[in-house]
Amino acid sequence: MAATKFLKTVLALLAAAFWSGAAAAQDTVKIGLILPMTGQQASTGRQIDAAARLFMQQNGNKVAGKTIELILKDDTGTPDVSKRIAQELIVNDKVAFLAGFGLTPIALAVAPLATQAKVPEVVMAAGTATITEASPYIARTSFTLPQATVPMADWALKNGIKKVVTLVSNYGPGLDAEKAFSEHITKGGGTVLDNLKVPLANPDFSPFLQKVADLKPDALFVFVPSGSGALFMKQFLERGLDKSGVRLICTGDVTDDDQLNGMGDVALGVVSSHHYSAAHDSPENKEFVQAFEKANNNMRPNFMAVGGYDGMRLIYDALKKTNGATDGDALLAAMKGMSWMSPRGPISIDPATRDIIQNIYIRKVEKKDGALYNVEFETVPNVKDPVKAAK
Ligand code: PHB
Repeated sequence: MAATKFLKTVLALLAAAFWSGAAAAQDTVKIGLILPMTGQQASTGRQIDAAARLFMQQNGNKVAGKTIELILKDDTGTPDVSKRIAQELIVNDKVAFLAGFGLTPIALAVAPLATQAKVPEVVMAAGTATITEASPYIARTSFTLPQATVPMADWALKNGIKKVVTLVSNYGPGLDAEKAFSEHITKGGGTVLDNLKVPLANPDFSPFLQKVADLKPDALFVFVPSGSGALFMKQFLERGLDKSGVRLICTGDVTDDDQLNGMGDVALGVVSSHHYSAAHDSPENKEFVQAFEKANNNMRPNFMAVGGYDGMRLIYDALKKTNGATDGDALLAAMKGMSWMSPRGPISIDPATRDIIQNIYIRKVEKKDGALYNVEFETVPNVKDPVKAAK
């Protein structure tokens, strides 16, 4: 008798444990954050991870009655690793969202899994225009290279730059930037003397910079991904290009806030176009920069951080709209057309393309209180990705 009673108690306890476990699982919404925390792109991982944590610290971990759990995985910047991690996150952890994606090949490698599992893929970093077309479950809070580049070409034309050379990292976003810049400046009456392409991995810019010195263009237009700008600037200085009369213009990936202050005075006066500067003059940004620096040992947020911060906002607001439901189609429907005030300025998710619409700013590197910043001096409002807009 006592044994039966004991057995019944054990069974009752087991059942209770099972049900509370199941309920807890249902009440938790997991976000798989896939980032390069090591390797050449580690600064992107560090920035986005810090921004996602800041967002959760400021907004809590409860949305529509659900508990949000962030699962961070290091993909080392390698597409095969990201793919395996994404598979595990979907199958074992049952994540409701995949987020992060520090490089274009990674966002593309995971896209078929997002489609198959109907899990939203929130692209917080990668910038090749076509990424959002790789899956109907992708939405983007970073930017596209053509979006950032066309305003740079417009500025160059307006400022008497006629002969140019382009120098880009030889993969998706670099090729997008090269094409957008070259086509636009040619249409406006400019001439492209050469299109130089530098390997993405362990780049050595010196032989390419020698070529630029020989060609003597009015300006050199550059794209290298976040994390490579400091090396580029060092070699630009070493080759004496700063004194050659060739004007340096670029996307803001080169004068990245994560590295800018360490580049030294060679960066002073460099004009770039981009969607975010830590010096952006708005109350929302002042609050963001202050909170980010406070939570991260004075690390200055860069454009990757703001992509991560807004990506979390997109996830939280989509969940609010679905009342906590994690059906992928419902979440994507909720994301389409969403708009809010970001630290970078007003942004929205284009309902037609799931890509971001945002201001692009023309900026110049200046010293403020002894530190280097990209100071914005012109705004091109509400820019859509021009590649998809032309389709
Ligand atoms: C990309 O791989 O798409 C990428 C990475 C870093 C950037 C921009 C684009 O700064």
